[in-house]
Amino acid sequence: MDTQNLETIIRKRGAHPGALIEVLLDVQEKYRYLPPEIVEKVSRELTVPASWIYHIATFYNAFSLQPRGRYCVSVCLGTACHVGGGVKILEKIERDLRVKRGCTTTDLDFSLDEVHCLGCCGLAPVVTVNEDLYGKVDLSHVPRILKKYTTKKVGVEDA
Ligand code: FES
Repeated sequence: MDTQNLETIIRKRGAHPGALIEVLLDVQEKYRYLPPEIVEKVSRELTVPASWIYHIATFYNAFSLQPRGRYCVSVCLGTACHVGGGVKILEKIERDLRVKRGCTTTDLDFSLDEVHCLGCCGLAPVVTVNEDLYGKVDLSHVPRILKKYTTKKVGVEDA
């Protein structure tokens, strides 16, 4: 694995235990997960036990130990979004992307997650794709939303 990005990150953040969270956040952003080889190198460079890094990685949602998709689709299933049809929207996205919630497509294009209230209940039901937020989503909007991010055919079906 190319560790040049990691060297740049550590140079920027500092090679000491106090920089751990910032380094891990940068690694997550750059590699889209925390690869084991990178965790080992961070452990050595920052003099932090790898076991502690894994503890942090599993505790905070911001980190993933599995490769994540280029696009992270989150469907809100908080109360307002649930009442507004969030479950059906999530199920449609699962079918269209052929991926289950909590998983990533084999081509690493999409990860799909459910979340519980994004703090904009007035827009329920809500879907986000990376930093983009879609409100008042209904089933007929799903193909259009996914197509914006689709680089290959992913079997997007009509509602
Ligand atoms: S319940 Fe979905 S944004 Fe609050």
